[in-house]
Amino acid sequence: MSAATRFLRACRRQPTDRTPVWIMRQAGRYLPEYRTLRARHGFLELCKTPELAARVTLMPIERFPVDAAILFADILLVLEPMGVGLEFAAGDGPIIRRPVRTRADVDALARVPAAEGLGYVLETVRLARERLADRVPLIGFAGAPFTLASYVIEGGGSRQYRHTKTLMYTDPAAWHGLMERLSETVVEYLQAQVAAGAQALQVFDSWVGCLGPDDYRAYVLPHMRATFAALAASGVPVIHFGTGTAALLELVREAGGDVIGLDWHVDLADAWRRLGYDVAVQGNLDPVALFAPVEEIRRRVGRILERAGGRPGHVFNLGHGVLPETPLAHVGALIDAVHELSARD
Ligand code: CP3
Repeated sequence: MSAATRFLRACRRQPTDRTPVWIMRQAGRYLPEYRTLRARHGFLELCKTPELAARVTLMPIERFPVDAAILFADILLVLEPMGVGLEFAAGDGPIIRRPVRTRADVDALARVPAAEGLGYVLETVRLARERLADRVPLIGFAGAPFTLASYVIEGGGSRQYRHTKTLMYTDPAAWHGLMERLSETVVEYLQAQVAAGAQALQVFDSWVGCLGPDDYRAYVLPHMRATFAALAASGVPVIHFGTGTAALLELVREAGGDVIGLDWHVDLADAWRRLGYDVAVQGNLDPVALFAPVEEIRRRVGRILERAGGRPGHVFNLGHGVLPETPLAHVGALIDAVHELSARD
């Protein structure tokens, strides 16, 4: 079996010769070749130049035997055509110039088809697919409605999500209106990525772990169900990723997705039992474990594989994105350890 099929088979819970592995944020700053390119171009400029974005998508594939490529783009790009004023300021992270805080702000959001507002991402998908030449599958992605809403409402990253929760609790109609708009936008965008050649999709709900179960059920679950129900028709496996979701796993499962992302706060075997074995799982090494000595990394990889118990349907990954300072040799050691320790042929 080749690396070309391992990842997609595992997403569908079919047996594989080895456990497939890829790394969230593998197309990014821990790579010196990315930093070299980035020194000459702004981040948005890179995203908006398909030739360069396709090149970054393939960078980790040229360097490591990972089992999937992820499109080089960003979850926040989808917000720009809505008219909120997206910027990536050096050192400050993303900024939304015109945050959405009221029902009127929600109603003022522009509706632009992905083919028009995000045509450059779709072109990157086409170029990357062509250049991958079926060596490994290409994962497309988008942010989940809650995580996107948090950026749009806060105006950038946040620690307490005060404005987000305030809108939720004081004007639920405006909140649900915003979540519906984001869900529709994300579904249309992801369907366009599949039409352009994406072979799997990941929905990033990176910050949903800030909610308790009752709030998740009331304010997020209906929109996630709608999102995953619409994506089920796309014909490609869909990964549902979140962090801090230990207390939400049953609800995350209820929301949907063929593969559920697990961060490192949960034991993989316990989490899989809670989710049910009729869904695949992805994870769950602590990204900071990559700063440990190689022998310790191998030991931890072995432990996670042991917790997966050789059951079909495990995609190895970190529990969250790889950190920019991560030693490259340790990333290579991780990939090799997963393949060697899980070899079933
Ligand atoms: O995974 C990949 O390698 C593909 C590309 C990708 C990027 N961002 C490139 C990027 C993906 C899948 C993302 C997703 C993303 N973006 C998420 C969800 C994943 C997660 O980590 O939870 C979030 C929350 C964002 C929003 C975002 N984009 C932030 C907060 C920042 C600044 C801080 C940071 O982490 O870098 C970005 C910028 C960004 N996105 C960079 C890259 C390579 C760095 C930009 C640079 O080169 O300066």
